[in-house]
Amino acid sequence: TTVPKFVIGNWKMQARHEYGLELARGVAQGLRDNPPPSHLHTILCPPFTQLAGVHSELDEIGLPNEQLALGAQDCYPAASGPFTGDISPQMIKALGASYVILGHSERRQNHGETDAVIRQKVKAATAAGVTPIVCIGEHLAERNEGRAASVLASQIEGSLTRGFRGIVAYEPVWAIGSGITPSHEELQRKLTLIRALLPMRLMTDDIRVPVLYGGSVTSVQAPSIMSIEAVDGVLVGSASLEAQSFLDIITAAA
Ligand code: G3H
Repeated sequence: TTVPKFVIGNWKMQARHEYGLELARGVAQGLRDNPPPSHLHTILCPPFTQLAGVHSELDEIGLPNEQLALGAQDCYPAASGPFTGDISPQMIKALGASYVILGHSERRQNHGETDAVIRQKVKAATAAGVTPIVCIGEHLAERNEGRAASVLASQIEGSLTRGFRGIVAYEPVWAIGSGITPSHEELQRKLTLIRALLPMRLMTDDIRVPVLYGGSVTSVQAPSIMSIEAVDGVLVGSASLEAQSFLDIITAAA
């Protein structure tokens, strides 16, 4: 059987409202006109404010969810309650999202999210039937000091739940938005390490959790990144903000 592949677009806080809707339509139309193989799954992650609008754009084009799905960029670790300004996984699910990005380094950094907080979010999302996409990755100094392996191990142990079922995205912090991507050899080594560490949280050796790479992915690097055996897909920031460049990445990943 063919291993499923994922291309995820994380728009971050970047698309104006109308532009986001247009972008979603462009991606959906591109996939409809030029459908990738069925093992390739595309997920769009707009800001909360655009989830409903993007959902109705996607609905209109009518692709199956397995082909093109919707995800959020964060959620609160509870179903409901007096939490001003927060959004629960149930709320994002009600808007048509079936995935949620959790523990992105920008949230770890800007919102002080710890592994323990992320694990609570993973738990809440899973309980709501929303698939978590958990980001892990070392900082440049940690890498240069030879601590990447221990950082990744503690992030996996700390932020994934026991019996985790979701997606893991390896995003070295130094590769995000920098135009720098790890060498083929480094990526192969890190991803193989992550795969070896995962069973302690999955509680089984028998399932292949999709492990993606993220950080400065463009349609130029995508083919070489996707050729690495341990890579099951890519989490794309900037290059997901333009329909054609994102579609080119999907083509490269298929
Ligand atoms: O979630 C996406 C990553 O942070 C990568 O962003 O492709 O703009 O480097 P980037």
